[in-house]
Amino acid sequence: MRPVLLQSAFTQRLLNQGQLTRWKDVWSCFAANFYKKSSDIPSNSLPAIAKYMADTSKNVLVMAGAGLSTHSGIPDFRSPGTGLYDNLQQYNLPYPEAIFDLGFFVRDPRPFLSLAKELYPGKKYRPNLGHYLARLINEKGKLLRMYTQNIDGLERLAGLPPEKLVEAHGGFSSASCISCFKEHDPDETREAIFRGEVIRCTNGKCKGLVKPDIVFFGEALPDRFFLYQDDVLWADLLIVIGTSLEVYPFAAIADEVPHDVPRLLLNRDVVGSFGMRKHDTIVTCDIIEGVTRLAKELGWHEELMELYTKHEPCT
Ligand code: OAD
Ligand code: ZN
Repeated sequence: MRPVLLQSAFTQRLLNQGQLTRWKDVWSCFAANFYKKSSDIPSNSLPAIAKYMADTSKNVLVMAGAGLSTHSGIPDFRSPGTGLYDNLQQYNLPYPEAIFDLGFFVRDPRPFLSLAKELYPGKKYRPNLGHYLARLINEKGKLLRMYTQNIDGLERLAGLPPEKLVEAHGGFSSASCISCFKEHDPDETREAIFRGEVIRCTNGKCKGLVKPDIVFFGEALPDRFFLYQDDVLWADLLIVIGTSLEVYPFAAIADEVPHDVPRLLLNRDVVGSFGMRKHDTIVTCDIIEGVTRLAKELGWHEELMELYTKHEPCT
């Protein structure tokens, strides 16, 4: 595992004051030269970006967050009132993000374990049009990779192949000990969590806490996340959908994409550095509305609806 840990925007800002900024500039400069002439690239309008996507783009990078799954019935984290972090009073936490904080988990694993019981992927939630759009981009041969922060597994349920997906904040499909990292059976872990039990490691005398492999604040991201270092070189379009871009290092991908590469934001709010680049297109609306408008502009709307209505979610 590489020593890059999940952290909030605040921590990341402090880090960025050092070497990282210079490194980023060198990188952007190299990558901008590597790419096509900026006169070829559309910006600032959904029809223009859709035309570019349909006619030219071959390597679309998608970044997603919790906003993508709200229409599947799963709340996001930071929307005032409805977001998970505004609705954790029952767990008596010192601050909302403590529920995903490794240090706090060691002191008291019960709040996370009872939330996990609610969040476990199952038959309760099904993918929505946004998830199927990612699949359709792939079926059109244009998806380079989808990076998601979501732990709900809905991209896989929508039929996105594993090699095209990076679940940057992990998920429930594996489990391990937080002390010795021994892998534990995910089904047994799930059953124990459903029985309301705190699970302890069975590796010798370890007795460390076991949890599903969801990345907590203070934990390293999966190795697979670092595919982004190559992917940003190949991307010819970035679509960011349903994320506040508040959590690092995930959020940094949006800035690692070279300046000449068009970026499209489909989100209720303007987030991250969107709006600061010439080739940014910002569509502030509800996700399903944004996805529908994009699909129509692409001429893919019928196919998207067919996928959505006919596809039986994969298990
Ligand atoms: P956030 O809750 O921070 O951001 C969700 C974004 O989606 C916000 O900008 C919302 O305005 C937008 N949004 C929500 N519903 C929408 C809708 N129907 N239409 C349009 N926009 C909508 O969620 P993330 O960015 O995913 O970490 O949060 C990142 C990480 O913070 C999560 O992965 C999680 C959390 O701590 C872990 O679980 C480890
Ligand atoms: Zn252990």
